[in-house]
Amino acid sequence: METLKRTRIADLFRTQPIGTTVMVKGWVRTRRGNKQVGFIALNDGSTIKNLQIVVDLEKFDEETLKLITTGACICATGQLVESQGKGQSAEVQAETLEVYGTADPQTYPLQKKGHTMEFLREIAHLRPRTNTFGAIFRMRHQMAYAIHTFFHQKGFCYFHTPIITASDCEGAGQMFQVTTKNLYNLKKDENGAIIYDDDFFGKQTSLTVSGQLEGELAATALGAIYTFGPTFRAENSNTPRHLAEFWMVEPEVAFADLEELMNLEEEFIKYCIKWALDNCQDDLQFLNDMFDKGLIERLQKVAETEFVRLPYTDGIKILEEAIAKGHQFEFPVYWGCDLASEHERYLVEEHFKKPVIMINYPKEIKAFYMKQNEDGKTVQGTDVLFPQIGEIIGGSVREESYDKLMARIEELNIPMKDMWWYLDTRKYGTCPHAGFGLGFERLMLFVTGMSNIRDVIPFPRTPKNAEF
Ligand code: 4AD
Ligand code: MG
Repeated sequence: METLKRTRIADLFRTQPIGTTVMVKGWVRTRRGNKQVGFIALNDGSTIKNLQIVVDLEKFDEETLKLITTGACICATGQLVESQGKGQSAEVQAETLEVYGTADPQTYPLQKKGHTMEFLREIAHLRPRTNTFGAIFRMRHQMAYAIHTFFHQKGFCYFHTPIITASDCEGAGQMFQVTTKNLYNLKKDENGAIIYDDDFFGKQTSLTVSGQLEGELAATALGAIYTFGPTFRAENSNTPRHLAEFWMVEPEVAFADLEELMNLEEEFIKYCIKWALDNCQDDLQFLNDMFDKGLIERLQKVAETEFVRLPYTDGIKILEEAIAKGHQFEFPVYWGCDLASEHERYLVEEHFKKPVIMINYPKEIKAFYMKQNEDGKTVQGTDVLFPQIGEIIGGSVREESYDKLMARIEELNIPMKDMWWYLDTRKYGTCPHAGFGLGFERLMLFVTGMSNIRDVIPFPRTPKNAEF
């Protein structure tokens, strides 16, 4: 006889080999029953659905049975039979049971259901074993796969940009320094400035805030590229939308103009949302039922609606009209202001009731690399604003003129001595190009319906928190 091999629970439910003997391995979610028969709900992470193992207690020794408690890891073999109980199609009639690892009921923290999300964040090392986080992390994988599939099918090249860098792409100065220097004994010059000559890289370096600048180098050679990797921001914002370490997807496309950029942004997000609807049905249904009754409907709606394309100047007018009609905002609205999330949410959730791509921002509130418009005041930046999330994408057409880019760099006093390589793209064979960055966890917030960004990344990094 062939030795029995383990079957994943997801595959068992799909193929339903009723009558055959199967082997399953996983973690006990619950155990209940009476004096004659026990019911083990087993989960192996391959699906949100538990497999029920029915145990005729007489057939097993008490010592083994005692160890099968919530959280224990076991291997069970037995015949797959049609289930009598409600809610599952098949169950296993246990023939053998082996305990791989016990979980002491006195100390295993995931005993009862209904833990708060805050508590689960404190046990982030164990929370993937809950239904909720199992669903979220399976979906996270699906969305990453969707992103690669989308760009691969469109002929984009996945390009790897460095994590350690000497340039600040966004110019916002929110960078984490990377050094091997002894911080308690820093060499300084006569003005008290730190000397980096003897540091590992011989200069001041940081963790990247964006792969865009290197992405532009690649796009102006390979045509269309995307990056997908971790990025870091030392912004001290303790909000449900900000992480110090997050993943960003950054496509960059040679010869694309504003119109094509917006089309790509819209097509890309809709593709990801449709992917979730098509490939994550069980997990989505669970999150919909448990957390957010409007989730699936909202995803379907956004996947089908045309996004609004709104010049910043028109957006300000709408907000000013709202104020004139009595709507109150905490922060002032005027041409030139950086929109606060209350303003973005008003436009998206109350005024248009659909996603908005806002374009042509005042140059003062956007990064140096954005293409300057003829009016001398605005740049071709695009922010995609989403219901409940706010900004999900930030992108722009890039300034391809060497002179205009240099002028802006000088105006802003950006130290360019380490960025000669970036300027070379404008010096040699420059071309119109555009790109954007999508915050992967912001997308995850939208597709899972979660309300805190700490709950859509396995191990969140936020101010004062780097546990696990
Ligand atoms: O708007 P941002 O800062 O744009 C850039 O970094 C550009 N270089 C992208 C490009 O054009 N290639 O960031 C892009 C997106 C935001 O729209 C948001 O979704 C996300 O990254 N993001 C964050 N997500 C989580 N935590 C943070 N602290 C984030 N900061 C930005
Ligand atoms: Mg932005």
